[in-house]
Amino acid sequence: MEEKVEIKVIDEARQGEATMVKVQETGGKKLYLESYGCQMNFSDSEIVASILAKDGFTTTRNAEEADLVLLNTCSIRDNAEQRVRNRLKHFKSAKVHNPELVVGVLGCMAERLKAKLLEEEKLVDLIAGPDAYRDLPNLIEEVGSGQKAANVLLSREETYADINPVRLSQSGVTAFISIMRGCDNMCSFCVVPFTRGRERSRDPESIVDEAHELFQKGFREVTLLGQNVDSYRWNLTAKGEIKNPEVPTVNFAQLLERVALVSPDLRVRFSTSHPKDMTDEVLHAMARHENICNYIHLPVQSGNSDILKKMNRGYTREWYLDRIRAIREIIPECAISTDIITGFCSETPDQHDETLSLMQEVKYDFAYMFYYSERPKTLAERKYEDDVPVTEKKARLAEIIQLQQQHGLASNRRALGRTFKVLVEGPSKRSDEHFCGRNSQNAMVVFPREAVVAGDYVEVKVTDCTAATLMGELV
Ligand code: 5AD
Ligand code: SF4
Repeated sequence: MEEKVEIKVIDEARQGEATMVKVQETGGKKLYLESYGCQMNFSDSEIVASILAKDGFTTTRNAEEADLVLLNTCSIRDNAEQRVRNRLKHFKSAKVHNPELVVGVLGCMAERLKAKLLEEEKLVDLIAGPDAYRDLPNLIEEVGSGQKAANVLLSREETYADINPVRLSQSGVTAFISIMRGCDNMCSFCVVPFTRGRERSRDPESIVDEAHELFQKGFREVTLLGQNVDSYRWNLTAKGEIKNPEVPTVNFAQLLERVALVSPDLRVRFSTSHPKDMTDEVLHAMARHENICNYIHLPVQSGNSDILKKMNRGYTREWYLDRIRAIREIIPECAISTDIITGFCSETPDQHDETLSLMQEVKYDFAYMFYYSERPKTLAERKYEDDVPVTEKKARLAEIIQLQQQHGLASNRRALGRTFKVLVEGPSKRSDEHFCGRNSQNAMVVFPREAVVAGDYVEVKVTDCTAATLMGELV
C-alpha cells in the first residue's frame, strides 16, 4: 500500500504544535481527521482510522476533498473546547461547497455535551463518545439516511484490544499503545472521569503482542498510555484481590517488564504516572532494564497540601517529595516532568509560593503549566468557588513558567559534554542537514545527518544547548 495521505494532530493538553503525520491509503470514500488534546486522543484516532478503513474510507489531508470530516476533541480546559468550536466554523463553507459532506465530533466534547452539541452546532451531523467508535459505520449510515446520529454510551469493558490501530506516526519509529481507558480518580478539577468513563485495563497479552508486532515492523519505541498507568491491573480488584484464580494477575510494574523483554532494542516509555499510586516496584523495574527510559511524568498540580486535598489528589506535598526521593535514589539518571495548575479555588499567594518552593526542590526537567479552568459537573465546580481572578491566575502562571524556564535550561546545561544514546527519529524540523531523536531522558537531541537512518541508535556527544534542545555530534 502506498504511503500518501496525512492527518493533522493538534496538541492542546500538551500545548504542542500542530503536526502532520502520514497514514496509509486504503481506497474508497475520503476521511479527513483532526485530533486535539492528549496522547490518548491521538492513539484513539489511530483506532478510528482502523475502524473506518475497514468500512472503505481512505484518509486525506485535504479537507476539501473529504466525504467525512471528524474532529477528535478535548474538553480538559475551556479554551480547548473553544478552539474546536472555532475550527468547526471553517467547515461551514466546505459544506456549502459539498452539501453531502458529513461532519462528526468525536471524543471528550461529544461525551460531555451530548445532544446539546448537535443543537448548538447545526453543522455537526454526528457525535461519538470515546467508547462508541465501533459504532461509527452505523452512525455514518444513519446520517446518510438524513438524520443526525449520536452514540455517547460509555462502557465498563471496551478497550479496543482487538483493533489493530492504523499507525499515524510520521517516523515509523515511535508508537503509542493504549493499556487502559477511563479514570476513577476524580481529581476535583478534572472532567476526564466524566468524558472517558470508568477505568478499565486491557488484556496484557494483547498489549505485549502489539509491542512485538510493532518491533517486527521496525518501530523502536513504544509509549504505554493510560490516565493513571500505576493503577493498571489485570485480574485484580481495586483492593488488590484476585478475581479469577485460573488467570495470572498483572500489575503495571510486571506489564512494563514484559514489554521491555520484547527486545532490548525496543525502548519503552509510559504516561501518565500518579504520585499516589507509583510504587518502588515500578522504579526497580525501570532500573533493571536499560530499554525502559529514564523518564517519569509525575504531575504534582500544586505544592500545597491543603490545595492538594481540595483537588482530591490523594497525596500531600511530603508524600510527593518522598516519591521524588525514591526516583532519585533508585534511578539516579531519571528525568522528571510534571503538570501544574495555578489559581485553583481559594489558592492564596502563600500557597502559590509553596508550588514555587516545591519546584525549587525538585528542579523539573520539563513541565506543562496551566491556569485553572472551571469545568462543568466536576467536584470543584459543585463544591468550591472559582474565586482567584483570572488576571491573578495568569500572573501566577507567568511566575511558574519563568522559574521552569530556568530549571529546563539548567537541566540541558548539565548535559553539556556528556554522551547519550539517541534513537534517531528523522530529519530535524529546522534543517535537512540535521537529524533529531530523543535520549532516554526524553530530551530532544539534534546532530549532523551523516550516514544514519530513522530507527538507528546513535551515540551523541552534547556540545551546545537551548532551553528546549540539545545539540551535539556523533561519536
Ligand atoms: N484546569 C486547568 N488544568 C487542568 N488540567 C486538568 N484539568 C484542568 C482544569 N480544569 C491539567 C492537569 C492535568 C493536565 C492533563 O491538564 O494539570 O494533569
Ligand atoms: Fe483527571 Fe486526575 Fe484522572 Fe488525571 S488522574 S485524568 S487529572 S481525574
